[in-house]
Amino acid sequence: MDYTQPKVIEVRTLLLKPERLRQLADKSDVSKARELRELYQHIGTLPENQRAAFGREVNQLRDELVEKVNSALDADQALTPVDLSAPFDINLPLDQQPKLLSADRGSIHPLMSELSIILDIFYRMGFTAVESRQIDDDYHMFGSLNFPTGHPARDDYDTFITKEGFIAPAHTSTMQNRVLKQYQPGLEAGSPIAVVIPGRVFRNEDLDARHEHTFYQLEGVYVDRSVHAGNLLATLKTFFQEYYAKDLDIKIQPFYFPFTEPSFELVMSCPFCVKKGCPVCSQSGWIEMLGCGMIHPNVLSAAGIDPAKYSGFAWGGGIDRLVMMKYNIEDIRHFESGKLEFLRQFP
Ligand code: DAH
Repeated sequence: MDYTQPKVIEVRTLLLKPERLRQLADKSDVSKARELRELYQHIGTLPENQRAAFGREVNQLRDELVEKVNSALDADQALTPVDLSAPFDINLPLDQQPKLLSADRGSIHPLMSELSIILDIFYRMGFTAVESRQIDDDYHMFGSLNFPTGHPARDDYDTFITKEGFIAPAHTSTMQNRVLKQYQPGLEAGSPIAVVIPGRVFRNEDLDARHEHTFYQLEGVYVDRSVHAGNLLATLKTFFQEYYAKDLDIKIQPFYFPFTEPSFELVMSCPFCVKKGCPVCSQSGWIEMLGCGMIHPNVLSAAGIDPAKYSGFAWGGGIDRLVMMKYNIEDIRHFESGKLEFLRQFP
């Protein structure tokens, strides 16, 4: 079917809504419309006492015809439903491929354009990036991260789990064990592990302007000999100053994560009001940005790294939050909404 060329049929002389009929494709309907016009003309020739009843019948016929025309038009104009998740042969000629919105009418999603800025900052600090995954298992999401079975800390993560035990990861920390294992051989050769892990994560949240079921996090891990919390704070402070292009102060508050010891919540001075107080920082002058800490010895051991020889830091925080603050976006749900008028504000 050709979607670009509307079928035009000359039916201007008809009594029925000409703008709809003009596009009518089905010739038999057009001929019915002509008959209808003759029927309307016939009304005037009838004795007066028969005109009303005859007119009503003709009107009813007209309504039926209009309905038929409209549904024919809807069917004609609708794109064939396409299963967007189904692969198709990209070598098919264009006119045989499923009709999708063409790429030149799209724009880069603001989370993705910001992510490339964020990654660029970490590349310049010597980090490598490894993408997280969207399906995982209990061991990577919890077990390898020192969450004992049945530990109440698991409940904090509102995790989607299928009956078969597959997990939609609720944090990018689900990748820590894999990344530590993958780069462990380099440690012995003297190369620190320095990896950032961006990814999409999922939580069974009560949705509101600050909570979405699907969002993005950036995880970081750094392991070497003699790594300490000062290295962690310097790395994150440098990142935030680069991202917001401002001098900033940071402070840490004690926190609990099973996979770090000690664990912190990192708080940053508000880049918008410089500690004076504004709506972004809820008038406090400070903003809680992410969770972090020194990697727990059990997490290092689970990846085959000797905690007596090596130490490391890790952090994980939401990307959506960073971008919302930077562009004054008031509702996190815009990101997943698919609304073009939102997306097109970010060229
Ligand atoms: N995974 C934590 C969360 O989603 C964030 C986090 C905290 C990641 C501390 C870390 C970390 O790597 O060390 O709440």
